Amino acid sequence: MHRPDILPLIRAKRDGHALSREDIEGLIAHLGTYPDYQVAAWLMACTCRGLSLDETVALTRAMAHSGEVLDLSDVPGPRVDKHSTGGVGDKVTLVLAPLVAAAGATVAKLSGRGLGHTGGTIDKLESLGSFQTAIEPERFKAQLRRLRVAVAGQSRGMTPADGRLYALRDVTATIECPGLICASILSKKIAAGADIILLDVKTGRGAFMETEAEAEALARMLREVGERLGRRVICVVSAMGQPLGQNVGNALEVAEAMETLSGGGPADLREICLELGAQLCVAGGLDPDAATARTRLAGLLDDGTAKARFRELVAAQGGDATLVDGPEYLPSAPLSTHVVARQAGTVLDLDARCIGDAVVALGAGRRTKEDVLDLGAGVRLLAKVGDVVETGQPLAEVRASEPERLEAGRHAVEQAYKTGEGPASPPPLIHAIYGGIAG
Ligand code: URA
Repeated sequence: MHRPDILPLIRAKRDGHALSREDIEGLIAHLGTYPDYQVAAWLMACTCRGLSLDETVALTRAMAHSGEVLDLSDVPGPRVDKHSTGGVGDKVTLVLAPLVAAAGATVAKLSGRGLGHTGGTIDKLESLGSFQTAIEPERFKAQLRRLRVAVAGQSRGMTPADGRLYALRDVTATIECPGLICASILSKKIAAGADIILLDVKTGRGAFMETEAEAEALARMLREVGERLGRRVICVVSAMGQPLGQNVGNALEVAEAMETLSGGGPADLREICLELGAQLCVAGGLDPDAATARTRLAGLLDDGTAKARFRELVAAQGGDATLVDGPEYLPSAPLSTHVVARQAGTVLDLDARCIGDAVVALGAGRRTKEDVLDLGAGVRLLAKVGDVVETGQPLAEVRASEPERLEAGRHAVEQAYKTGEGPASPPPLIHAIYGGIAG
């Protein structure tokens, strides 16, 4: 394929012109030959000017085909996949993937690393000893046949173009572009080969699409692009005003996911896993309706079946499966402090964006491509919106490995909380469903 000169493409996009399918395909096919600064400039031009639907379809297709696009027709169905547009404390995949596999679906999942102030499944899984996420296509498929679940990251074999663009977007303020988000997510979904794709589109301060209108527009784009590329896409728009669950930070989130896989865990995390799981089970023809699916899925959490599948997943991908039953041995940062309530009252607000920024400041997210994560750093939220607290009561525990990081993170967590007079209740978790049971 022709290798386009990237400079005219950056200029064209900067000036608001649409790029042709050929230009986009050429750019992605030769991505590895352009220097970071030119690719970053092109990403910034896309972020400022936006991508049309046709450009987004072309980019998604080109990125999916930058590596192998798996044909899963010889893998038992229903073949499903799930992805979040990015949130704070969003460890849903860690619970949902083994849960839905235990319920009889095949979960072929390509995940990402942390992006901006949001966490990433691949980083979280790396808390589990030497868990391997760069698995090659043939091994991915063999694992699906054996276990019905595999979770990999972008690699040389699968969506390498997203691996490159994702790492640059993370550190160049070029995440919040609907077309780039859509292409990044759907290219991984197309490459992993599932027929049914469930997208959890987050909205609120901790999401990349802060307003409901922006989240709905992204959901519409994801469905349209997915369908133009031959996949069934269900979008659930869900709340990300305050973080999901209690723990934010890589190993802390793994520990919370394991609690949820044991039938416990925070109510909001369990609820969203059951809702998304029910959508997948009904769409995949495993259950006749959402209520039946939810009951069955709740049973698989409560009786340990889903956790057993997670243990097998960890072992299959080279991780330390004993950690699944020994969360106290997960990485843990040595320094800790508490943020306490300055006055008695109700937690009126808990800003997910501030918590996400706090977790990056603690060392659990990246500021440059080369940053090595502190997997044991993070925050445990001991009070959330609607909780009544006394003066001096701990609101959150903050963990880091270096005193300066601990202080920066503590300060950001303090900014996240607002307590005061009056009742407050958390907003509804699920805002809308498109293309699913209630859509
Ligand atoms: N998740 C992804 O994989 N890519 C994005 O751009 C945002 C969330």
